[in-house]
Amino acid sequence: MEKLVIEGGKPLSGTIKIHGAKNAALPILAASMMAPGTVTLVNVPDLSDIHVMLDILRALGCQAEQGTDTVRLNTSTAHSSHIPESLMSQMRSSIFLMGPLLARFGRVQVYQPGGCAIGERKIDLHLKGLQALGAEIEESGNTIVCTTNGLKGTEIVLDYPSVGATENIMMAACMAEGMTTISNAAREPEIQDLQNFLNVMGAEIIGAGTDTITIKGVTSLTPCVYRVIPDRIVAGTFMVAAAVTKGNVTLENVNPSHLTSVIHVLKRAGVQITIDGDIMNVSCLTRPRAVERIVTSPHPSFPTDLQSQIMVLLSLADGVSIVKETVFEGRFKHVDELSRMGADIRTDMNSAFIKGVHRLYGATVEATDLRAGAALVLAGLAAHGTTVVEQIHHIDRGYERIEKMLTHLGAQIHRFSPVPTE
Ligand code: UD1
Repeated sequence: MEKLVIEGGKPLSGTIKIHGAKNAALPILAASMMAPGTVTLVNVPDLSDIHVMLDILRALGCQAEQGTDTVRLNTSTAHSSHIPESLMSQMRSSIFLMGPLLARFGRVQVYQPGGCAIGERKIDLHLKGLQALGAEIEESGNTIVCTTNGLKGTEIVLDYPSVGATENIMMAACMAEGMTTISNAAREPEIQDLQNFLNVMGAEIIGAGTDTITIKGVTSLTPCVYRVIPDRIVAGTFMVAAAVTKGNVTLENVNPSHLTSVIHVLKRAGVQITIDGDIMNVSCLTRPRAVERIVTSPHPSFPTDLQSQIMVLLSLADGVSIVKETVFEGRFKHVDELSRMGADIRTDMNSAFIKGVHRLYGATVEATDLRAGAALVLAGLAAHGTTVVEQIHHIDRGYERIEKMLTHLGAQIHRFSPVPTE
């Protein structure tokens, strides 16, 4: 198992380009299935989750080539609507293919993605939405088969603004007959990016970014060339990295309007942020201040995907902060690991009470999920001494060679791979 070894205490400085958004690229790759022909995507990150999605698309019969930051995907040869269970179990986002495969083939076979480290993560809203559009769903054990003789537009009110369910329903509805409205839709920037992509291919969708999305069904979509938005969670992670190391970092290829709540919280903590178009400078020369209360909830509120990272900053802040996690029930796994590094954090149900300490200390810690892993790297950068982060395959799901980006900013961080045995 690979691990990251970090010598903490070096202020980060310099400029870094933020890569494309995993959470935008994944549904966009799935949506490409609906347009037979070759789609070219630019600003696609080179991440293990993207590799799994491309493997699934290949298993369905597509031809996929990945370049430095591009993907060329020929979907005209696709012939299967059955996502292999072995690939499905590697990545929950494979459920994004349900809507597109149903639209293209009238059938899709998938497997329950199951629980994961951050919570139960059901797919009931995806299934209810597809059913409302006219899909018949048969569940037998772990297997789910959806079929349709033709999807029909309808009015769907989501019980919760689920990002994935909104995207799945949007994709299926864009080739359904007639109009669909999704109320209480998720408003994340990645949903706007999916709308923009689908519309470039000929779909007729309006409203993404608000809580009501209206989709007029079309009979076909045409492949296109499309640039994916920058990754706001990676940008947010590097903003916190600059702050916790008392550094001065310039981020290029960011969309500040996607980071409003994050900028607001960091400024409350005393972090200096200046913005010039898609360039952002982040610096923090003094000890950060505690932030009385941060509540994670759907966009535009503070993102759950940056909760663990901001907790590292608050662990070092002057005063007591409270973080309430409302999106995922099991998302405090990093707390035990941060405590082992000297953080003073107490949790009660879905709230964490963080009493800032002056110093974190290096330790051997384990990444339990993607963002928890990123938080431990940040803690290691700020800590005195050596930190070893294990189980870093989680981190590779969402950050393109994180140690390379951080080394570029002056961090002392190395990846160690196990020595191959004869
Ligand atoms: C997406 C993001 C993930 C982010 C999350 C919330 C991708 C690939 N992943 O995940 O990084 O943390 O949004 O911003 O885009 N729920 C149900 N039933 C459903 C669907 C969801 O109960 O059918 C619940 C989940 O268990 C969770 C909450 O709704 O508690 C939010 O989930 P959702 O918004 O769907 O997140 P994902 O799309 O899985």
